[in-house]
Amino acid sequence: MTTGSEYHDPVLLQDCVDALRIRKGGIHVDVTFGGGGHSRAILEKLDPSGSLVAFDRDRDAWRNAPKDARFTLVRADFRWLKNHLRFLNKLPIDGLLADLGVSSHQFDTGARGFSFRFDGPLDMRMDHRAKLSAADVVNSYDHARLAELLRTRGEVDNAMRVAKAITSARSTKRITTTHQLLAALDPVTPKKDANSFRARVFQALRITVNDELGALEALLKQSADVIRPGGRLVVISYHSLEDRLVKNWMRTGDLGGEEKKDIYGNRTRPFDPDSNKATQPTEEEMNRNPRARSARMRAATRT
Ligand SMILES: C[S@@+](CC[C@H](N)C(=O)[O-])C[C@H]1O[C@@H](n2cnc3c(N)ncnc32)[C@H](O)[C@@H]1O
Repeated sequence: MTTGSEYHDPVLLQDCVDALRIRKGGIHVDVTFGGGGHSRAILEKLDPSGSLVAFDRDRDAWRNAPKDARFTLVRADFRWLKNHLRFLNKLPIDGLLADLGVSSHQFDTGARGFSFRFDGPLDMRMDHRAKLSAADVVNSYDHARLAELLRTRGEVDNAMRVAKAITSARSTKRITTTHQLLAALDPVTPKKDANSFRARVFQALRITVNDELGALEALLKQSADVIRPGGRLVVISYHSLEDRLVKNWMRTGDLGGEEKKDIYGNRTRPFDPDSNKATQPTEEEMNRNPRARSARMRAATRT
């Protein structure tokens, strides 16, 4: 069995803990528990009256839960944040951390189907209870829908051609494994940067299967209802689609980035961002942990 840090090496650990400005006796929430690296660092800062609620929808993560009276693990999608916190009588909270995307464990386990480095079932579900798998998307979405998701969620060039390669391959045989998908993509895979192309296709599928942008939007909207004034919101994202939503939300309180004003023309926004610039890992952290390379952390205070 893997331990927490083998499961996932937490990114921007100290920066997150500092950015949360943890109140020793407060209520904090880590919505992406994973290997529990960030959660453990938060628990270390709390006194016996403080508490931490964590969320993860992946059952593999659940085994990393620490036995600690101050800790509660919610085995669910964080899109239901507010309902769970209300049920647990934990509202309002002092700080919320989201470290988005997949864990190293998910990525490095061939049987989960997240990575083209391994031949495995085309699954990609974070939550084993979910109905839709990557194989369902690849084999049942029509050409236009496939092209759309490749373009908008993977920023894949020539998305129409790539979608066509998938629909032609599946017309002879259902695509059920990661390497069958690679073979289907072969005719449209560029010679240069082939792996970056494959990574974009896999990212687009993963984001679709897990409705990652829908979950993030729901989380951001609820953050204003659950965090007390003066409390903190800290989010690490790993690609521009997520980072854009987080940046817009923290700057304006609108996911599209449109500024809102009251009848007197004063800007109304639920959060005050620390900076317009995101925090990135140091070269040293990126060398030690290449997965940290694309990380962007943003933090804001509830107004
Ligand atoms: C990048 S990892 C977090 C790693 C963690 N911070 C650590 O230190 O080990 C993201 C985790 O969030 C979970 N996750 C992603 N989206 C989720 C969602 N909408 N609801 C619940 N869990 C989610 C994934 O299953 C994964 O375990």
